[in-house]
Amino acid sequence: MKKKKKKKLLRDRWSSHLIFLFAAIGSAVGLGNVWRFPYLAGKYGGGAFLVPYLIVLFLLGIPILILEYALGKRMQKGAVGAFGKIHPRLRGIGVNAIFVGFIVCAYYAVVMAWSLIYFFHSFKVSWASAPKEFFFSKVLEMSSNIRFLDGINWIVFIALIAVWILIYFCVWKGTKSVGKVVMITMPLPIILIIILTIRGITLPGSLEGILFYITPNFKALFDMQVWNAAISQIFFTLSIAFGIMIAYASFTDNMQVKKDAWITAVANSVISIVAGFAVFSTLGFMAAKQAVPVSEVAAAGPSLAFIAYPQALSLMPWAVLFSLVFFITLMSLAIDSAFSLVEAVSTVFSDKFKKWSKHWIAAGVCFVGFLFGIIFTTRAGMYFLDLFDHFATNYGLVLVGIFECIAVGWFFGADKLRKYINRGADWKLGKWWEISIKYICPIVLAYLIIAQLVIDISKNYGNYPNWAIYIGWGAVLVPIITGIIVSFWPNKKK
Ligand code: PHE
Repeated sequence: MKKKKKKKLLRDRWSSHLIFLFAAIGSAVGLGNVWRFPYLAGKYGGGAFLVPYLIVLFLLGIPILILEYALGKRMQKGAVGAFGKIHPRLRGIGVNAIFVGFIVCAYYAVVMAWSLIYFFHSFKVSWASAPKEFFFSKVLEMSSNIRFLDGINWIVFIALIAVWILIYFCVWKGTKSVGKVVMITMPLPIILIIILTIRGITLPGSLEGILFYITPNFKALFDMQVWNAAISQIFFTLSIAFGIMIAYASFTDNMQVKKDAWITAVANSVISIVAGFAVFSTLGFMAAKQAVPVSEVAAAGPSLAFIAYPQALSLMPWAVLFSLVFFITLMSLAIDSAFSLVEAVSTVFSDKFKKWSKHWIAAGVCFVGFLFGIIFTTRAGMYFLDLFDHFATNYGLVLVGIFECIAVGWFFGADKLRKYINRGADWKLGKWWEISIKYICPIVLAYLIIAQLVIDISKNYGNYPNWAIYIGWGAVLVPIITGIIVSFWPNKKK
C-alpha cells in the first residue's frame, strides 16, 4: 500500500493549471483548425457546415472530452492503464486509441514537413508563377497513381527527419519540456492567425470570400457525408479518441473537468472559425483579382493550405512576409498537436515499464513514428496520406469513441464518474452527460459509421485499387486486433 502511494507521488505533474490548459489547447488547435476545417467548410456548404459542426461539438465532442479528462484525472494513468483500471480486459481500448493516433501522427508530421519546405520557399515565394505544379510536381514530385511509389522524395524525407527531431526535443523531458514549449507554441500561432485575419479582411474583394464562407447552403445538411465529415472533424480537432487528453489529464490532480473541457473546446472552435475568416477573405481577394467566382478558388480540398492560400499570398503586397508568417503559423500550430500524441504513447509505455528512461521511450516513439511516415515520403505519399486519413479518422477514431463511451458509460458507470467530476467542481455536470455518454454518443456514432460503410462498400474510396483499400482497412483493423490481443494477454499484476 505504502509503496503504491510513493509511486503516485512520482507521477509527472504540470507545473501549473494554466500550463495544462495551454498544453491541452495546443494539442487541440492544429492543422485541423487552419487547414482541415476551412476546406471542409468550403466543400460542405460554407456556413451551413457550422450547423452540423456545432451540433456534433455539443452533442458528442464536449461530452467525450469531459469523459477523457475525468478518466485521466481519476485513474492517474495514460490511456491503456486508465481503461485497464476499469477492467483489465478493457486495456485494448487504450491500445486501439494510441495506435490510431499514432497513424494520424505519422502523416501529420509529413504535412508539417511540407510546411517546413514551404517555409524555406517563402523567401522567394517560389510557387508564385504556378502554385499547383509547384506543390504536386516540385514539392511532392507526385506520381500519377498510387501504384507507382517511384522511390523516396529525399527533400520531404529530410524535412521529415527535421520535424521528428524537433518533436523529440519538445517532449524529451515529459511535462517539464512540454510545459515550456507550449508557452510559446500555443499563443504564437493564435497571434499570427489574428494578423492573417486582419490582413485578409482588409484586402479588396475579401467580402465576397467571407460571404461565401458564412452564407449557408442548407441543402448540404441533408447529405450524410456532411455529418460524417463534421464528426470526424470534431474528433480530430479536439484530439479526442487518441488517448492524448487522458494522458494530459493524468498529469494533474486539481483540474476542473467540466470547466476545462469547455474552455478547451470553445477556444479551439473559436480559433477554427476565425481561421476560416482568414482563409476565405484571402481567397475572396484572389478570386476578385483573377475575376473568377470564389467557389472556384475555394473548391481546393486538402490542397487548400499548399496551393490556393499560398497562391493568394503571392498576389498580395508583402508576399514574402505573409508567406513566412503563414508557414510559421502552420508549423507552430502543428508541433504541439504532434508532440501531444508522442506524449500519449510515451505515457502508456512509462506507466507500464517504470524503469525505462523517459528520454529513450520518447526517442523510440519518435523513431517509429518517423519510420512509419516514410511511406508518405514516397512519390505516391499523397495518395497514401489521403487513404490513411480517410480510414483512420472516419472509422478508427469514431470506433474508439464508441468503445470509450461503452466502457465508461456501462462498465465503469457514467453516474459514478459524474459524481467524481462534480466533487468540488466549480461547474457541476448535469445528468444530460450520462445520457449522452451511455446512449446518444454510441448510437449516433454507430449509425454514422454504418452510413459511411455503405458508401465505402458501394464504391472504392477515391477510386483506389482494391489492394489500397485493404491497406486502408488495415489501418482500422490492426489497431483493433492489437487492442484485443493486449486485452487478453495475461496480466501479471493482480
Ligand atoms: N487536434 C489536432 C488538430 O486539429 C489533430 C491532431 C490530434 C494531430 C492528435 C495529432 C495528434 O490539428
